[in-house]
Amino acid sequence: MTQHKLLQNFEIKGYQSALIEWFDDNHRSLPWRENKDPYRVWVSEIMLQQTRVDTVIPYYLNFMREFPSLEDLATAEEDRLLKAWEGLGYYSRVRNLQTAVREVVSEYGGQVPKTRAEISTLKGIGPYTAGAILSIAYGKPEPAVDGNVMRVLSRVLLVKEDIAKAKTRKLFEEILYELIPQLDPSAFNQGLMELGALICTPTSPGCLLCPVRTYCRAYHAGQEHNLPIKSKKKKPIEKKMAALVLINKNGEVLIEKRPEIGLLARLWHFPNIEITQEQSGVEELVSFCKSEYDASVEIDTPIQFVQHVFSHLIWNITVYDVTIENQSIEETETRKWVSWKQIEQYAFPVSHQKIIEHCKKEA
Ligand code: ADE
Repeated sequence: MTQHKLLQNFEIKGYQSALIEWFDDNHRSLPWRENKDPYRVWVSEIMLQQTRVDTVIPYYLNFMREFPSLEDLATAEEDRLLKAWEGLGYYSRVRNLQTAVREVVSEYGGQVPKTRAEISTLKGIGPYTAGAILSIAYGKPEPAVDGNVMRVLSRVLLVKEDIAKAKTRKLFEEILYELIPQLDPSAFNQGLMELGALICTPTSPGCLLCPVRTYCRAYHAGQEHNLPIKSKKKKPIEKKMAALVLINKNGEVLIEKRPEIGLLARLWHFPNIEITQEQSGVEELVSFCKSEYDASVEIDTPIQFVQHVFSHLIWNITVYDVTIENQSIEETETRKWVSWKQIEQYAFPVSHQKIIEHCKKEA
């Protein structure tokens, strides 16, 4: 096999052993590193997508208490699952995880598949997650390329390709098939991740502490601050919304389940609408209550303003409250009257959790 151009004159063996030795001596003790159970590794890698380690730890510990095995997760009610994920964001991750776990139980006798071809057919398992599970849980020499790994490798090998492009991830996968040692792929891959988290950080890489500095082309060229190259994402779209805390004469509040598909699917929220005009949204909310609930309400000043920034979208929500005394709104599967205590059982988007917090404080 001919060597990849970028690996010519690169001391592969020295780099591998320096990285692995450093990882063995310096890695953080994290709950998913307690053992190599593929289910535990899998859950951790799904949680760690787009989410920081410090944020993940308490969710991970709680999730493992609630769903200690594949079988527990496969049979869990979706609402319990969403509650355990509440606040982590990207909720399709956990729904896909359950779909995939069910398939592992029904099609693979509860054993997480050991080949890239098979594991990649499972819902929510992309090339990164496949490589992470195969290498960490099963010790397979498979690449696991995420943004952190691309940053580290861009610097070490002085790669100037745009890491926002899909083909750059493929380039790094090709390189890694030659760079990963057969002996301890788990420590090597986790070493790359750990180096990216602790030393080879985005804005101020700690080169003087780096165990592989001598191998690093960017360091020798004084280019570590200029790499990786990453083109900017589009600016998120801003949406103006109005939400309503609708209280009945028993002091219960109306909540609704979000649609089956789309953003934050099947989480619960307060009734809300997108405001298209320049005005405050009060008129639109009043007519929404009429058409949706056949309720006549008077709404005046807002009680709260909440902003939530998603990766592609910003919600600017003005929150109003209103009490209805003599009108009734029927409950359905997706519409419930709940007390401020009962509301804790339901999973809400973070923006609407803030509404709950505010109302509880005022109550
Ligand atoms: N980021 C992604 N995967 C990780 C892991 N296994 N440990 C620490 N950080 C990570």
